Amino acid sequence: MLNFSFHNPTRIVFGKGQLQELDTLVPSDARVLVTYGGGSAKRTGVLDRVKRELAKSGRVVFEFGGVEPNPQFATLMKAVEIVRKENVDFLLAVGGGSVMDGVKFIALAARPGEFMGRELELLKPGRPQVPVDTALPLGTVVTLPATGSEMNCGAVISNGEDKVVIKSPLVFPRFSILDPELTFTLPEKQVANGVVDTFVHVVEQYMTYPVEGRLQDRFAEGILHTLIEVGGKTINEPADYDARANLVWCATMGLNGLIGAGAPQDWATHMISHELTALHGVPHGRGLAAILPGVWRVRKEQKGAKLLQYAERIWNIVDGSDDERIEQAILKTEEFFHGLGVKTRLSDLGIGEEHFDAIVASLEKHGMTALSERGDMTPEVSRQVLQASR
Ligand code: NZQ
Ligand code: ZN
Repeated sequence: MLNFSFHNPTRIVFGKGQLQELDTLVPSDARVLVTYGGGSAKRTGVLDRVKRELAKSGRVVFEFGGVEPNPQFATLMKAVEIVRKENVDFLLAVGGGSVMDGVKFIALAARPGEFMGRELELLKPGRPQVPVDTALPLGTVVTLPATGSEMNCGAVISNGEDKVVIKSPLVFPRFSILDPELTFTLPEKQVANGVVDTFVHVVEQYMTYPVEGRLQDRFAEGILHTLIEVGGKTINEPADYDARANLVWCATMGLNGLIGAGAPQDWATHMISHELTALHGVPHGRGLAAILPGVWRVRKEQKGAKLLQYAERIWNIVDGSDDERIEQAILKTEEFFHGLGVKTRLSDLGIGEEHFDAIVASLEKHGMTALSERGDMTPEVSRQVLQASR
C-alpha cells in the first residue's frame, strides 16, 4: 500500500427532512450568499425552503442565481463582487457539482491576497493547490448526486475553452446536506450521468496496478456493486427512496478521498473528457462513458492485473484467456452504461476523427502530457484512446 495522509473535515447530514438542520449548521449571525444554478432550485421549491430555514435566526441573506453547468469564471466573478460589496461571510451552494464547484471558487477568489484583480490566475492547470491562504467558509445543499464535490476540496472551473481542475484544503465544505428526496426532480439523463460519473470516479482510483490495498479495493468494489444494483432502478423509479439514497451515498463516498488513500490513481479518462466538454459541450458523464472503454482497451497491459480482478469480482468472469476476460469485462461495463441510456462511442456524441487533432492539442495546452497512474500516457497515447473510442 502507498503512504498517505487522509483528512476530511466535512460534516455530512444525510436523510429525509435534513434541510431543517441548516439553522443549526450556518452561524446565526452570518451574512450568507445562497448560490444556485439556472433555475431548478427555484422551480423545485428547494431555494424557498433554504431561505425559510436561514431566516429562522434572522440572518442577512443574499442570492446569486445563474451558475451554468460547467461553471464559468466570468459568471462566478459576479458573485465575488456581491460577496465583497455586501461583506458576505458564509457561502451556501444549492445545486449539483457545478454550483458547488462554483461556490468553492467564489470562496477562494473573494479575498485572494496578491491575486486581487488577477483572479483568473487562480485557474492554472496542473498546480497542486490554489496559492491563497484564506477562503470563506461554505456549506452545500446537494440536489444532484454525481461529483462528490460535497465532500472534497476540488472544483472544476471553465474559462471559455479552458476547463481547469483546482484544489485547496480551504474549500472542503463545512457541511453538506444530502437529502435524497431533493434529487427526485432530476431528469433521467442527469441521474444516469451521475451514476456514470460516480462509477468512473471509483475506477479512476481502482483500475491501476495492485499495491496490496485490499481494503481500498473492496471499498471500491462495494461502491461498484451498489451502483450496478441501484443504477437502473433509481433511473426508472426516481422516487424510490432507498435506491436513490444508495446512489447519493455512493457518489459522496466515490470521491471524498477515502477509497483513493494509499492507492495509485489514474484520472486520464477525466482529463480527456474535460476537453470534450470544453471543445464540444459534452456533459461530463457522457464524455466519461465515451472515453473509459477506450482507455481500458489501450492500457490493458498496464492495467491487466486490476482488469482481471475487476472482471472476476464485479462481473464474475472467470473463463477464457486473460485477453478474453478483460474484453468481456469491458463489454459488460459498456452494457451497464447502455442500460442506463448512456452511449459509449465518440461517434454517438457527434465527434469524428477530424476533431482529434484539436482535442490532443488542447490536452497539450493544458499540460496533460503525462497522464495516468504511471505518468506515461503521452499525447500520442491519448490519441490512440480517441481512436479506440470512435
Ligand atoms: O442549473 P439548474 O437549473 O440548477 O439545473 C441543473 C443543471 O442543468 C440540473 N439540476 C441539478 N439539480 C437538479 C436539477 N434539475 C432538476 N432537479 C434537481 N434536483 O442538473 C443540471 C446539471 O447540473 P450540474 O451541477 O452541472 O451537474 P453535475 O453535478 O454533474 O456537475 C458537473 C460539474 O462538476 C464537475 C464537472 O466537470 C462539471 O463541471 N466535476 C466536479 C468534481 C469535483 N468537484 O470533485 C469532480 C467531477 O469529476 C467533475 O469533474
Ligand atoms: Zn467526474
